[in-house]
Amino acid sequence: MISLKFFIFYFFISTFIFFPSNILAQNQHIEEILSQKQIEVPLKQALGDEAYTQAMNSGKYNYVGNSKCRLCHREFFIGRKHDLHDFTIQKLAKSKNEKNPRCLVCHTTGYGVDDGFVSMETTPRLANVQCEGCHGPGSLHIKLAKEKMKLKSNINVRGFLVGTDHPKRLKKICTSCHTSQKNNSYNNLQEAYDSYRYANPNMKNR
Ligand code: HEC
Ligand code: HEC
Ligand code: HEC
Ligand code: HEC
Repeated sequence: MISLKFFIFYFFISTFIFFPSNILAQNQHIEEILSQKQIEVPLKQALGDEAYTQAMNSGKYNYVGNSKCRLCHREFFIGRKHDLHDFTIQKLAKSKNEKNPRCLVCHTTGYGVDDGFVSMETTPRLANVQCEGCHGPGSLHIKLAKEKMKLKSNINVRGFLVGTDHPKRLKKICTSCHTSQKNNSYNNLQEAYDSYRYANPNMKNR
């Protein structure tokens, strides 16, 4: 019984103390975004203008959506099913900003990039920050992976603009979205980055 009372007590205290500060932080985030002239597309920031333009003109990179990645990387979907990146669209609805282009840039997969997220009506398969939200469009990677499987060859399966062979870009794409000085998601970028090396960030097994 004591523990139940304690729980209820704790519940009230935490709601009263932490809830308003959450709301404040949220309003601060929204104000910060709305005060900026323009929100630059994260993929473009990560690559730099030249590499970005080159990649987009090559016609090799298209967003395919999570359902395609799941076919070969199921363990990542199981290991990360609670990752907040997968719920970013619904966070916009609370303040009725789910159609606001300024918000969609960081809360979807590839908004503002050719072939990226447009709207829930036309491109629901690219909602939230999916695998390709960090690694970039995956069409070339899948083409290479399929060739490898078919030919049983030893070719390296890469083909990402922001893959593991580009750690600088991968880190830059984090900070392109996680910009605010008060970042609520992590205290240490390197630690947060490293946790994504594993299919299950808690288990640290592959
Ligand atoms: C047809 C199977 C297949 C599909 C579909 C697939 N992958 Fe892969 N992926 C592979 C294989 C095979 C490797 C290489 C694994 C290794 O070398 O250990 C790989 C490696 C990777 C890597 C690490 C290497 C790198 O280039 O950074 C990432 C990241 C990755 N895949 C992400 C994705 C994403 C995102 C999708 C969906 C867009 C996807 N994969 C779809 C088979 C696939
Ligand atoms: C520059 C990228 C970026 C833009 C643009 C952006 N967000 Fe966010 N948003 C984030 C990140 C990153 C987080 C994770 C919280 C953190 O790390 O501080 C987040 C978290 C949130 C949350 C979760 C609550 C919180 O603050 O912890 C809400 C709600 C939210 N954003 C609403 C919005 C709205 C509404 C807009 C448009 C007015 C917007 N965001 C535009 C990057 C962005
Ligand atoms: C928040 C950004 C982010 C998201 C979302 C993300 N990844 Fe990654 N991924 C990373 C980072 C960071 C690494 C580590 C890169 C390195 O080794 O330097 C990584 C590494 C990988 C690797 C290589 C692991 C190894 O063995 O070295 C694979 C495979 C991979 N990701 C697949 C996926 C798949 C599939 C999804 C979607 C379910 C996904 N990623 C979503 C950031 C992300
Ligand atoms: C396209 C924008 C975008 C990119 C790229 C991105 N994030 Fe996020 N990240 C977000 C948003 C939005 C949230 C959701 C916050 C929320 O719902 O409160 C988030 C949440 C997180 C969280 C909290 C996850 C959880 O489940 O508690 C961590 C940690 C994080 N990001 C780290 C990273 C790292 C590390 C990278 C780069 C490898 C990265 N992010 C890349 C937008 C992004």
